[in-house]
Amino acid sequence: MKIVVIGGTGLIGSKLVKKLRDQEVVAASPSSGIDSITGAGLADALRGASVAVDVTNSPSWEDAAVLKFFETSTRNLLKYETAAGLRHHVALSVVGTERLLESGFFRAKIAQENLIKASSVPYTIVRATQFFEFVAKIADISTEGNKVRLPAVLFQPIAADDVASALAGIATGSPVKGTVEIGGPERFRLDELVRRDLAARKDPREVIADPRGRYYGIAVSERALVPDDGARRGQTRFEDWLTQSTKSAPMTGRSVA
Ligand SMILES: NC(=O)c1ccc[n+]([C@@H]2O[C@H](COP(=O)([O-])OP(=O)(O)OC[C@H]3O[C@@H](n4cnc5c(N)ncnc54)[C@H](OP(=O)(O)O)[C@@H]3O)[C@@H](O)[C@H]2O)c1
Repeated sequence: MKIVVIGGTGLIGSKLVKKLRDQEVVAASPSSGIDSITGAGLADALRGASVAVDVTNSPSWEDAAVLKFFETSTRNLLKYETAAGLRHHVALSVVGTERLLESGFFRAKIAQENLIKASSVPYTIVRATQFFEFVAKIADISTEGNKVRLPAVLFQPIAADDVASALAGIATGSPVKGTVEIGGPERFRLDELVRRDLAARKDPREVIADPRGRYYGIAVSERALVPDDGARRGQTRFEDWLTQSTKSAPMTGRSVA
């Protein structure tokens, strides 16, 4: 089966391409001449393919830019996939997207999902919770001086590797024609997990549980970031991932904004 991974050089995309090595897999990205915004290279890349997996991300997360990216990219992909007769479009989105619409990023992800649902290409939307690899960025976004203020809401992040494994299984299966949720194996409080991540990296910033603290710049409710009870779960525990990631990339304390 020929599978085209759009965004095949990214965090998830590069892991997914490795997991699909038993298939004919194309890692598509602008660096290989395949661009979902301009359409360059898409017709050639999709010729003879059965499945496309969209794991692109926008280079800019500014409100208008990110909306334009996901709308243009998704429209182009679906147009070229329809022309090439693909039988399955898989896209990676985020758990709780409809609860996070105060953010331009999530308005863009909803726009992406709606275009997919309205298209004639059979699809599966995979909504994942935040990646373990993203926890450090959450801390950076919420840092003021030496303090990180975050709401103590429920949080169930997942290893990027587990997301890639789930996507590989879905890409080689039949379209669900709906949405699948996946989260990590354990639930935490957001402030608690960020505190553990920073401590393990010997980062001196203090994490404060603040009911008025914001996640990614927006107010979030207790359950906004966690999946429904029936969601699939990754296997990797945060503590095991943290041990591995601090061993392979020891840090001596990040600079503080
Ligand atoms: N961060 C999280 O916690 C989280 C949680 C759930 C879901 N997600 C979703 O997961 C998806 C993938 O995230 P990620 O962290 O793996 O992204 P990433 O590492 O930033 O990778 C983005 C990929 O998109 C490619 N790309 C950018 N512009 C493109 C274009 N015009 N045409 C084709 N490819 C293009 C990039 O190619 P180059 O390498 O050439 O730039 C790269 O391969 C995103 O849609 C995100 O919303 C993220």
